Amino acid sequence: MAWGRTSGKILSWYEDILNAPGKGPSLPILAKMTPNIGNMELPALAANEGGADGIAAINTIKSLTGIQLQTFSAPPSVHGKSAVSGYSGKAIKPIALRFINDLACHPTLSGIPLSGMGGVETWQDGLEFILLGCSNVQVTTSVMQYGYRIIEDLTSGLQAFMAEQGFSHLFELVGAARSNIIHADELDRQSIVYPIIDRNLCLGCGRCYVSCLDAGHQALSFGKDRVVHLNAKKCKGCHLCLLVCPVGAIHPGKRVTKPMPKE
Ligand SMILES: Cc1cc2nc3c(=O)[nH]c(=O)nc-3n(C[C@H](O)[C@H](O)[C@H](O)COP(=O)(O)O)c2cc1C
Ligand code: SF4
Ligand code: SF4
Repeated sequence: MAWGRTSGKILSWYEDILNAPGKGPSLPILAKMTPNIGNMELPALAANEGGADGIAAINTIKSLTGIQLQTFSAPPSVHGKSAVSGYSGKAIKPIALRFINDLACHPTLSGIPLSGMGGVETWQDGLEFILLGCSNVQVTTSVMQYGYRIIEDLTSGLQAFMAEQGFSHLFELVGAARSNIIHADELDRQSIVYPIIDRNLCLGCGRCYVSCLDAGHQALSFGKDRVVHLNAKKCKGCHLCLLVCPVGAIHPGKRVTKPMPKE
């Protein structure tokens, strides 16, 4: 593991490893990428140049689990000492998906098979990697947690989804979400989705009001009657209020064109 972490930053090593004598002539070789680097495309390109048959990503993310307040050490500790080590499992999935997206949309890498991993626990998790461009998916932490049996759940869930949606081959799904991921600058900034408050569900707890107030928009008012009102002129459509509402009393309205600012 330590060697793998180091080699992720020394690009020429990829070619050396891939061309090493005795690697076996017939087995496909996937070059595994570390996420502990800013730009994963660089080692992936080096591995591609070096003859890798595919790219596997991601490895674990360097981390410290936390500091215990009684001992001032980070678990797991060895005689009170700990070290930076690798984070894996459910929490790293969004980071893994972002790296897979970076690889899948790189013009030189397009076409090289991607094997995705990082937090796959359910068939839906696995399918997300496939939709971004992975032709297969790997699972480590979840198997350690729940045993190999979960693989049956993953495959049967995926098969049921495909049958229900009318897909006959997995390759129809590989990269199917790719065109929906664009650069932030290309997103439509001329329209907005205002939140709609369902007064029948609202508990009057005020969490949406506090979040909107302290997040800097002040688009909600909340009086002594504990009824929330929206000031659409101040609303930025960030949907923080939807996320914090404990009972799902706020839902998104229709996307509408933003009002033109008055001259
Ligand atoms: C206990 C443990 C040991 C691991 N050992 C290796 C290893 O020896 N080589 C390697 O390339 N990746 C290793 N990994 C990383 C996994 O293969 C995988 O890339 C990473 O954990 C993300 O996937 P996951 O969230 O499904 O675990 C290890 C992961 C864990 C949790
Ligand atoms: S969408 Fe954002 S800005 Fe608009 S009311 Fe909700 S939290 Fe405030
Ligand atoms: S967070 Fe939800 S329940 Fe609480 S006041 Fe806002 S809309 Fe009502």
